[in-house]
Amino acid sequence: MLLVIKKDYDAISNEGAKLVAEQVRKKPDSILGFATGSSPLGLYKELIRMHAEEGLDFSKVTTFNLDEYVGLPPGHDQSYHYFMWENLFKHINVDPRYVHVPQGMADDVEAHCEWYEERIVKVGGIDLQILGIGGNGHIAFNEPGSSLGSRTRIKTLTEKTRQDNARFFDNMDQVPKYAITMGIGTIMDARKLIMLANGKGKAQAIKNTIEGPISAMVPATIVQMHQHATVLIDEAAGSLLSEEWQMG
Ligand code: F6R
Repeated sequence: MLLVIKKDYDAISNEGAKLVAEQVRKKPDSILGFATGSSPLGLYKELIRMHAEEGLDFSKVTTFNLDEYVGLPPGHDQSYHYFMWENLFKHINVDPRYVHVPQGMADDVEAHCEWYEERIVKVGGIDLQILGIGGNGHIAFNEPGSSLGSRTRIKTLTEKTRQDNARFFDNMDQVPKYAITMGIGTIMDARKLIMLANGKGKAQAIKNTIEGPISAMVPATIVQMHQHATVLIDEAAGSLLSEEWQMG
């Protein structure tokens, strides 16, 4: 695991995008793993710029997203499908046939999760996976207590997560109760990981992730075990780290 601390959000976004672009230039048919949420938005914006201004070519890339709500159709403005198309895919030249986001409307969710795992393996495994981190140390929808060896599966959302999301829906009843998420084991199988975190709100989670013991109670700590994980954070997210990290 490599820790990289940059001044601010723009700097981590640009650095993250540089790593993704390097991967795509080296292997045009790369398998990329994407995340939703606010953390990767700047990185996506920079990839869009590189596509428009530098001709960064995504036409042969295959993508897999980390997670999706169960019960939301792809066109719902809170679905992760919609998020990815709005914030990245429609602005670059990905081939829609090569885009994978878990199907929240699948008739048989368990069978779909198995298919998703198999599909990742069949195309050769994820080369580079982008990750955010929750304030409680979650990665994807793997909340504290998730098995470190878990695979793609359906998870019940915690009451806290549902309440946090309630502002995006008309009322609490509309907030999804379940999500499909890649497991921690699935994420660890990716050949490279880039974890992004910015802002003071992530400082404790980052301290636990970098310095704490590896524990299912802080799922993100598992990145310590990954050979090619880059934890890319701004100074605010690194503000609680011990001094030796900040010097290094
Ligand atoms: C999203 C995901 C989540 C987020 C995390 C951080 O696909 O997997 O685990 O990465 O909740 O969210 P933000 O970036 O909004 O702080």
